[in-house]
Amino acid sequence: MTRDVYIEDLASHVGERVRIKGWLYNRRGSKRIQFLELRDGSGIVQGIVSKADAPAEVFELASSLEQESSLIAEGEVRAHPKREGVFELGVEALTLVAAPSREYPISNKEHGVEFLMDHRHLWLRSKRQHAIVRVRSEIVAAVRAYFDDHGFTLVDAPIFTPSACEGTSTLFETDYHGSPAYLTQSGQLYMEAAAAAFGRVYCFGPTFRAEKSKTRRHLAEFWMVEPEVAFMDLEGDMDLAQDFLQSVVRRVLERRQKELTTLERDVSKLEVLLEGAFPRIRYDEAIRILQEAGKDVEIGDDFGAEDETLIASHFDRPVMVTHYPVALKAFYFKKDPEDQARALCMDVLAPEGYGEIIGGGQREEDLATLDAAIEAHKLPMDDFEWYRDIRRYGGFPHAGFGLGIERMVAYICGIHHVREAIPFPRMLSRLSP
Ligand code: 4AD
Ligand code: MG
Repeated sequence: MTRDVYIEDLASHVGERVRIKGWLYNRRGSKRIQFLELRDGSGIVQGIVSKADAPAEVFELASSLEQESSLIAEGEVRAHPKREGVFELGVEALTLVAAPSREYPISNKEHGVEFLMDHRHLWLRSKRQHAIVRVRSEIVAAVRAYFDDHGFTLVDAPIFTPSACEGTSTLFETDYHGSPAYLTQSGQLYMEAAAAAFGRVYCFGPTFRAEKSKTRRHLAEFWMVEPEVAFMDLEGDMDLAQDFLQSVVRRVLERRQKELTTLERDVSKLEVLLEGAFPRIRYDEAIRILQEAGKDVEIGDDFGAEDETLIASHFDRPVMVTHYPVALKAFYFKKDPEDQARALCMDVLAPEGYGEIIGGGQREEDLATLDAAIEAHKLPMDDFEWYRDIRRYGGFPHAGFGLGIERMVAYICGIHHVREAIPFPRMLSRLSP
């Protein structure tokens, strides 16, 4: 009996005759032997069709196959004679499901990134992109597993929202039955309400920013996971972020070795995260680092992408920067009781130029102080009535953070631009495919 198998499971079928359903990734060969690179979504295997062994019509079909033909191949699984852990298929039967009706636009030659982005729906079939999406899938699974295993309840946040969370300048406005609504920038405010109901909560979904940034770190639509914990302070928040990041990295290193190899990622740069605590510095120290590097900055300045890269380059693992001036941060942060001009916030900056991957901190729990901050940020008080209730009915210290999934994917995969870290990116100048 011939069994249907996936390429990633071939190791347990050596010596058996199996059937693989997929597409032709690449072909090379001669008049005597054809090498078919077959892919089925789970992996790639080399199919070998030799004129001497295969039926004549199988060899003829193999010799004429075009890239991205869909097909069914049957044959015996063999261990590669020289490369351990690599398998081959000795093709004995071949069925063409559909030949491409046009020449496949993506070939082995160099293509410009805009061309590839225009063909994103096809580009996803390529080895590197395939590896990135598999790593992303593992990261998402690791994120969910971490919170599910640590007593957190998943509480989904809405996407249509009446108000801003992260400042009014990056809101995507939309029409909601005749009234304006905004696509969510963050589920945090809802998680604060949920923390009072469930203690430890997280949301995980798409979030939107309308900023007109064209950097390699910005998307208009990105995925964010946001834990929020009742009775946790900034210290606890940093401990949680560190443990969480280590757990995600550990799982990806364990389970996605093959993909990281395809991506030529230097995994030693990730392994060091597992070795111990992440450095924690205050904003003022970060400013000093910049000044010592000759940057013209002073206390009160915000960090640009370059600054973040420079600060992070002083460390071999993510660095946690805390206590930014209140003016640089969102309205909801608790002020440091020892210095009211500073926010109890943290940004986690990844090394190697990946920048801020996490933003979070402790929230203001006192209603009067919160009201003053809402006013100072010129936010409409009415929209925050429900949010103020969280302080009215049993206010409590609480903290949380948000991790941007695409920045984490880019960091783990070692890819330059976040546009490759999401299957179908939405950017300032891209809404398709
Ligand atoms: O620092 P941000 O804006 O923080 C928040 O939204 C908080 N409300 C989260 C919380 O405390 N619950 O965003 C958090 C993270 C950033 O560190 C970054 O990783 C990612 O979200 N991020 C973006 N990723 C891609 N494109 C963008 N335009 C992003 N903006 C933020
Ligand atoms: Mg931030």
